Amino acid sequence: MLDGKKSLFSGMQATGTITLGNYLGALKNWVEIEDEYMCFYGVVDMHSITVRQDPKLLRKNARNLLMLYIAAGLDPEKNCIYYQSHVSAHAELGWILNCFTYMGEMNRMTQFKDKAAKHADNINCGLFTYPILMAADILLFQSDVVPVGIDQRQHLEICRDIAIRFNNIYGDVFTIPEAYVGKTGAKIMSLQEPTKKMSKSDTNPNAHILLLDEPAVIMKKFKRAVTDSEGRIAYNEDQPGIHNLIDIYCATTKSSVESALAEFDGLGYGALKQRVGEAVVAELEPVQKKFYDLSKNKDYIDQIIKNNGEKAAYYAGKTLRKVQRKVGFPDRIR
Ligand code: TRP
Repeated sequence: MLDGKKSLFSGMQATGTITLGNYLGALKNWVEIEDEYMCFYGVVDMHSITVRQDPKLLRKNARNLLMLYIAAGLDPEKNCIYYQSHVSAHAELGWILNCFTYMGEMNRMTQFKDKAAKHADNINCGLFTYPILMAADILLFQSDVVPVGIDQRQHLEICRDIAIRFNNIYGDVFTIPEAYVGKTGAKIMSLQEPTKKMSKSDTNPNAHILLLDEPAVIMKKFKRAVTDSEGRIAYNEDQPGIHNLIDIYCATTKSSVESALAEFDGLGYGALKQRVGEAVVAELEPVQKKFYDLSKNKDYIDQIIKNNGEKAAYYAGKTLRKVQRKVGFPDRIR
């Protein structure tokens, strides 16, 4: 809770362009809760450097992501959209929480194991304590809920454990966050391996639709989407490719599975892919247009970055000072 209103934090990494999966699974749904919660959406650039980044590219991707948040429909007056690295309280609370988290707990994190295997030449301490920084993100804003996908559930769980531990020692300092269970935040799978999540880090470009892909590219990727040899359009686990195409269609057009199946009745796979591709193109066109308009409006974006950064710092600072006092740091002299 912040100022008597329920609050929420979520964020995305500023690496590469986000995918249709990020959009349908998260962003598109965030737009609908802006009146219900005080929302904070970070471009979590501090998390991004747990993996080596090209500085120029990181800066560009971070700005693009911030603009994509807005282009996707998040109103920057209502939602606090900002760079994590502009609010030093993230690092400061992150450090304190480091001292309230056990090595054993971090050792159990499955995402760390996956990432360590992927980046064997750079298993740095930041990668190890990544979930603690994430806990700081969430707890700084006294978040009641956190919209996260299934792959981040374990991180949210550890955040809760840390918060409960801290509260047990020092009293009610942190709100204990819950996972936000939205109205079907769709889980979108790879177009090439439909049993795997769609990921922007997939090395096969046909596996994902990027939010800034041009219409012709989107259509081509759908045309190449992996299906099966059943030859009939049904919605079941045995046909993960078709299942995924239907999920994409439903999330994009907000139709129910039943009505989508009725619409697709009698179609071949080629025609299905065409329909889904067209729906995605129609959905992304206005987002892309808005993105390119925003890109031309440097002053406007800069103003948002400044104002929202200050707003986030204000609320985060309140929590941080409370925590600092609780752990026994000396008061500042004014
Ligand atoms: N780890 C998240 C991801 O990669 C991003 C993230 C950072 C986040 N801090 C967060 C998500 C806090 C939710 C809440 O997807």
